[in-house]
Amino acid sequence: MSEDQVVSVRVEDRIAWVKFARPEKRNAMNPALNRQMMEVLDDLEYRDDVGVLVLGGEGNSWSAGMDLKEYFRETEAQGLRGVRKSQRESYGWFRRLRWFHKPTIAMVNGWCFGGGFGPLFACDLAICADEAQFGLSEINWGILPGGGVTKVVVDLLPMRDAMWLTLTGELIDGKQASAMRLVNESVPLDRLEARTTEVAKLLLKKNSVALKFAKDAVRRVGVMTYDEAEDYLVRMQEAANFHDKTDGRKEGIRQFIDEKSYKPGLGAYDL
Ligand code: ACO
Repeated sequence: MSEDQVVSVRVEDRIAWVKFARPEKRNAMNPALNRQMMEVLDDLEYRDDVGVLVLGGEGNSWSAGMDLKEYFRETEAQGLRGVRKSQRESYGWFRRLRWFHKPTIAMVNGWCFGGGFGPLFACDLAICADEAQFGLSEINWGILPGGGVTKVVVDLLPMRDAMWLTLTGELIDGKQASAMRLVNESVPLDRLEARTTEVAKLLLKKNSVALKFAKDAVRRVGVMTYDEAEDYLVRMQEAANFHDKTDGRKEGIRQFIDEKSYKPGLGAYDL
């Protein structure tokens, strides 16, 4: 029996709009959704007509976190084999998204709970609606934020904020999430898609190889010593030069120094 479609996808002007699509369940992530997300990422990752991926939610939710019935209760009923399988499926697509070949933007329109912080962190940038509501509700039903979520808040937030969200399970709205730097910015809901499109278009003007190496570098260097990071960044730029068949770095210098057609301080060179 084929699974219901619980992820929606639309590609337009090199932006892939991927959405959690179980609005009647507040986009809680069940095993079917986790499997479909992996397939969708697989399909989109190396397509030439996709330059940026946006992850949004259908209806009034971004994601109500893991599905307490289908992801926890029903897989636990299958024993450890079922539990580990469903963990592999969810952690698998979160990881795939963290290292996605194209830049990614979380567009948080509404509820974002618990396990939803996994894909939130996996996206490179995050823009939310002022009306969005974020919370680590795990403590409210008697567990600690697992599945990487405690690591997410510790990496993204100062310790007091991470501890506050973790221990109280209290909600914060989009403006608070932005002030806390859980997201890049918060805008009124009716501006959310337009603002996300603007940011996606800004990224589409940049050299795509440089974007991939730069986003990976930001995630990787945090745990390195200074010397390791310095060395890693030299090697990564050399690898980027190899992968960039347009020789963008030289072209960027040429358009500035010889052609004088743009200024790197003020915008990107013509791809
Ligand atoms: N898991 C399973 N089902 C869910 C989830 C979830 N995380 N969230 C919502 N649903 C279901 C509800 O059971 C309900 O199903 P039904 O229509 O068959 O009864 C349906 O979605 C609608 O939910 P309501 O609670 O009726 O919607 P409402 O708009 O009143 O409230 C809210 C929305 C606040 C998101 C509420 O549903 C809720 O608290 N959900 C749980 C949030 C949560 O704690 N998630 C787990 C985080 S921890 C983790 O992910 C590991």
